[in-house]
Amino acid sequence: MKKVKQVYEGKAKKLFTTEDEDIFIQEFKDDATAFDATKRGTIIGKGVVNNKISEKLFTLLEAKGVPTHFIKLLNDRDMAVKKVEIVPIEVTIRNIVAGGMAKLLDIEEGIILNEPVLEYHYKKDELHDPLINDCHIFAMKLATKEELERIAELSFKVNDALKEFFSSKNIDLVDFKLEFGRCKGEIILADEISPDTCRFWEKGTKRKMDKDRFRRDLGNIEETYQEVLKIVSD
Ligand code: TMP
Ligand code: ASP
Repeated sequence: MKKVKQVYEGKAKKLFTTEDEDIFIQEFKDDATAFDATKRGTIIGKGVVNNKISEKLFTLLEAKGVPTHFIKLLNDRDMAVKKVEIVPIEVTIRNIVAGGMAKLLDIEEGIILNEPVLEYHYKKDELHDPLINDCHIFAMKLATKEELERIAELSFKVNDALKEFFSSKNIDLVDFKLEFGRCKGEIILADEISPDTCRFWEKGTKRKMDKDRFRRDLGNIEETYQEVLKIVSD
């Protein structure tokens, strides 16, 4: 399978068409950004690591009944994915208070939530991905009622599966962000699942094993990404 034409370049990935109109190639870059790209850098090897971690996690989720855009790994940085129309909503699920929730509500990071908190953010960088609710989504026609129900159902399913998986690896899944797409009338999980899009804390020590090491200048960034890949692959 070959890249034909670049159709999109985001902060961490590029997307290409292929000879098959239903299949795209997703390429993972080493570029890292935070805080709406006001902080920029490179995490050497990140693209390779995130490609492989996403492969593992999409495969695990497919086995648990979550449809995803993942088709197959092509090489170190590229995966073949189903062509989708991205729903412009970023779904966040939180199990432990951190980051945006701690700031928004002025509460301490680390508080364990009684129930997972699901948030929708409008995917629009210029507006800093604002928090929205289902009424905004229907009013702005970002998704239909049926689509949003499916998105929420799948998001909680992803949370159950990943929480259990990472727990067995001595890691707490603090929170994560998902994006969904429309593919032949169906809602499927798209984008990536990686230390860029999740918060992972080592159980007990709460050592951060994700992009917060870059956001907060905590050091050992490359080593930690490699460590997560090893843990996920074992
Ligand atoms: P937040 O606490 O900053 O809202 O982030 C929640 C989760 O979403 C965290 O695991 C990181 C991830 N995330 C992204 O994948 N992309 C983003 O642009 C942001 C802000 C967060
Ligand atoms: N990737 C986002 C940005 O560059 C934010 C983040 O992950 O912190 O703005």
